[in-house]
Amino acid sequence: MSTNEERIKDEIVAFSDVMAMEWIARRGAEIERLMAYYRCAMMEIETKFKVLDQEYSLQHDRNPINDIKTRLKRMASIKEKLERKGLPFTMEAIEENLNDVAGIRVVCSFADDVYTLADALLKQDDITLIKKKDYIKAPKKSGYRSLHLVVAVPIFLENEKRPMKVEIQLRTIAMDCWASLEHQLKYKKDRTFTKAMESELLLCAELSTQLDEKMDSLRAGMDI
Ligand code: GTP
Ligand code: MG
Repeated sequence: MSTNEERIKDEIVAFSDVMAMEWIARRGAEIERLMAYYRCAMMEIETKFKVLDQEYSLQHDRNPINDIKTRLKRMASIKEKLERKGLPFTMEAIEENLNDVAGIRVVCSFADDVYTLADALLKQDDITLIKKKDYIKAPKKSGYRSLHLVVAVPIFLENEKRPMKVEIQLRTIAMDCWASLEHQLKYKKDRTFTKAMESELLLCAELSTQLDEKMDSLRAGMDI
């Protein structure tokens, strides 16, 4: 079986209700195409960041990007999100209402790099900013910090130029460390997460902010 077929089969297995399985079976080719478009858009954005990283390292002799992770939302999560928003499970509803089908996470070396990279991407003339949320300047109640952008990037098909939405999360290594550990702790099934634990996590978020600030001032002191 080809990888694509395996993926679609995987998605179908992930569904619990028969209606959704029928829907997927009827629109298999169409969904596969839409998902391929999202994957292409994600690749475009990933390449743009890799180019910026290369160029920066030539100029400054260091890499502003530590790691890039990409992910395509699973069909089951897409369906669940549309239901939660009271929207129909259609291609149009997916494209119009979901910003995070294609997701890319850019883990940066220093806090300043987050903004340098975001600004450099948003300056590019084929990128349209749809939404920006700065959870670094204004962290979430949980302590979560990251810069979130939703952009539209065109993908060039044989006879068509098609803008596709991609959600970008930019964060430092410390922010990424906190977010992935917090996620593991908080979303563990059949374990209680107490208010006291929440406060401890908030303290960890503050420590990670201090770490970022200290590292960034070391960087600035070295003028790199
Ligand atoms: P949703 O995707 O529907 O939540 O859309 P939204 O735009 O309202 O959400 P938000 O801007 O809060 O960003 C959502 C994504 O950010 C999530 O899928 C997570 O990856 C990340 N995120 C947001 N808040 C937290 C948090 O408290 N902890 C962790 N670990 N991640 C978070
Ligand atoms: Mg999301």
